[in-house]
Amino acid sequence: MEVNIAGTGACVPERVLDNVELSAMVDTSDEWIRTRTGIARRHIATWETTVDLAAAAAEKALLNAGMEAEKLQMIIAASSSAEMAMPGVACMVQERIQAVNASCFDINAACSGFIAAFQTAQAMANAGMAGTVLIIGAERMSSLVDWKDRSTCVLFGDGAGAAVLTAGGGENNTAEKKMASVFHTDGTKGKYLNCRAGQVSSGPVLHTENSEEKPAENLIEGCARMETTGEYLRMDGKEVFEFAVKKVPECIREVLKKAEVSIDDVDYFILHQANRRIIESAARRLGVDIRKFPMNMEAYGNMSSASIPILLDELNREGKLKPGMKLVLAGFGAGLTWGASYLVWTK
Ligand code: COA
Repeated sequence: MEVNIAGTGACVPERVLDNVELSAMVDTSDEWIRTRTGIARRHIATWETTVDLAAAAAEKALLNAGMEAEKLQMIIAASSSAEMAMPGVACMVQERIQAVNASCFDINAACSGFIAAFQTAQAMANAGMAGTVLIIGAERMSSLVDWKDRSTCVLFGDGAGAAVLTAGGGENNTAEKKMASVFHTDGTKGKYLNCRAGQVSSGPVLHTENSEEKPAENLIEGCARMETTGEYLRMDGKEVFEFAVKKVPECIREVLKKAEVSIDDVDYFILHQANRRIIESAARRLGVDIRKFPMNMEAYGNMSSASIPILLDELNREGKLKPGMKLVLAGFGAGLTWGASYLVWTK
């Protein structure tokens, strides 16, 4: 059975933290961050929780799909930065949007989380468990990040994206495959990108328009607590970079082989938005025009599981996705995990 994307939605926190402001907090520069990553600014949650962002994205996706919340049979949320260990984000979103008929659970596959949620929803549809599924990627990465560590804090941002999926079609008169999925893990490389459970960071101490300017030294006061616990995100940037540039093209080729689709026939490759250089390298290795790789990390940074659905929502709202277009979604991140899904846009 096929699964169609009937609607998309996104929500990011109000507060924008640009590279220049960040340069007053840690020893970095706009130039360094832009050239190494393609990131210029990111949204940082001040009052918004992961569930606030997730529920807002979910409501927009339902509106875009023209569907009432009570029609949802399942909600799957991907997150690794929720404020609550339990209940899950999906359960809390269910209450917020009153999706009273949905069964709900979370997935933690870090930056590959949205791909894992999408593939799980497809499997659930095929198992006859749910025909209308809301999938969400929602993160408050600012609560996992050490705001004194310049090698990581410049990379991440907060946000949530969602998609409403409907099972249907399947009366495929042609031999053409409409979907294919691959997902991989190498747990031995988990040490290259990890974070202890339990939120320890209160996030960067940011001044808002209504509060007084704070001197730069105070901006990191809120991180003092982290020094004693050491429980924040750590990454070996080089290892993760090398892993991503090798495995992402590999799994894209694998999923297209499974789908029996030529790489030249794909309209868009919607990749996890961790780093411009990783995406440029993937395009080069695949021999595909970089214009087929839309990017938005400049405005958001790496939002982990929220990156792909937020980019998908932007393309959808900009009218860039037309029925029949062939798309590849690909994610990679902690685990280490990586995966790709091939689909045909039908909305
Ligand atoms: N600002 C200024 N200098 C910085 C810096 C920052 N924010 N972060 C690190 N540096 C410094 C380092 O201390 C180092 O200085 P040194 O040469 O004096 O020791 C220098 O810049 C080079 O550091 P290096 O780590 O070699 O940089 P890099 O070219 O490997 O780029 C990353 C670092 C993180 C941008 C890169 O490794 C990367 O993109 N990795 C993948 C990360 C990722 O996408 N993770 C998420 C996957 S889901």
